[in-house]
Amino acid sequence: MSFLSSFFKKETSVLGLDIGSSAIKVVQIKKKRGKAVLETYGELALGPYGQIEVGRAVQLPPEKVIEAVKDILREAKTTTVTCGSALPLSASLITFITIPPVEDSKIGDVVQIEARKYIPVPLNEVLLDYSIIPKEEAYVSEDESSKTEKQGKDVLVVAIHNDYINEYQSIMTGCGLTPSFYEIEIFSSIRAILDQGVTTNMVIDMGARSTKLYIVERGMLRSSHIINKGSQDITLALSKALSISVGEAESLKRTYGLKGGPEYKELTEIITVNLDYMFYESNATLLNYQKKYGKNVSKIILTGGGVLLRGFTDLAKISFQTEIVYADPFGKLETPAFLAEEFAQAGPEFAVAIGVALRRLSELE
Ligand SMILES: Nc1ncnc2c1ncn2[C@@H]1O[C@H](COP(=O)(O)OP(=O)(O)OP(=O)(O)O)[C@@H](O)[C@H]1O
Ligand SMILES: [Mg+2]
Repeated sequence: MSFLSSFFKKETSVLGLDIGSSAIKVVQIKKKRGKAVLETYGELALGPYGQIEVGRAVQLPPEKVIEAVKDILREAKTTTVTCGSALPLSASLITFITIPPVEDSKIGDVVQIEARKYIPVPLNEVLLDYSIIPKEEAYVSEDESSKTEKQGKDVLVVAIHNDYINEYQSIMTGCGLTPSFYEIEIFSSIRAILDQGVTTNMVIDMGARSTKLYIVERGMLRSSHIINKGSQDITLALSKALSISVGEAESLKRTYGLKGGPEYKELTEIITVNLDYMFYESNATLLNYQKKYGKNVSKIILTGGGVLLRGFTDLAKISFQTEIVYADPFGKLETPAFLAEEFAQAGPEFAVAIGVALRRLSELE
């Protein structure tokens, strides 16, 4: 490429889309002077499209999802159809396998053969992807490295059922969008919130329907786990225990969270009980990993709308013996300074959409 053509290269905008169980998140970014610049973003609750409350997970027919996506694109005033889309973790099967030592050209075939043992449907019904987990050269001596070579390679295998891809494809087409990839949400989040450090981190993504736990080592996913409880379960528990409508419960949860004070003692108690359960499960996953691999998880990163609950981190800090931070995916983008506070607060909700957009942007290079 000549100097001039790169100098006058058109700025292309891209979209990242995250259709969650309770809300759609969309982000539009572009590259300017080598930086990813935020152009617009938006969020839309899906509940009302299925006649239920905001904040709840909802199963919508494709035409309703299309209607909602179109609405949020219009509302956010997006200006491109160039995009990528996340797929829910629940749409995938993620396994970690060890394959025997083979030449690089044979790895694909061997992974297929090994993966068959773990994937409960015929392989022609799934989209299979894999990546080799690099050995830790830094920690492995010459002798050990040749020994591990003989032991084979650790491989991360991701399978997505074709039905999911086809469903998403028809939704995207219905919206007039042209995604170049579908990516399991974990990988989008990792891109948006983690740096390529050598440390081991755990990500907690508390959505409406479920809470996803990922352990990431040197940028690579090493373990993933789903807790089938999310932030909507807190709302439903509140509604039941306090005999109030789900809408009121959602609003109490968002307004006061754990910071309601003595006047809202019951609210605090019910939320605490629910979070204790999730923290207990998360801690078990973390401790299990540390024990199994002899690794110390040095930081927990919080994402998903559920972690926006007031007082969430204070309780998390008591429950975990680990540093706790909020995800800051907007930190990977150039954003207007006067909105810094808003971005810091909205960050956890937009991790997936921003991660998708960043990948789409990198494809343009
Ligand atoms: N300020 C807040 N305080 C407490 N909870 C909140 C707040 N804002 C959003 N939530 C909760 O976060 C949840 C939505 O989070 P998010 O958008 O990450 O979910 P999702 O991606 O749609 O769900 P999933 O990841 O399970 O598919 C809702 O249940 C909502 O009640
Ligand atoms: Mg989500």
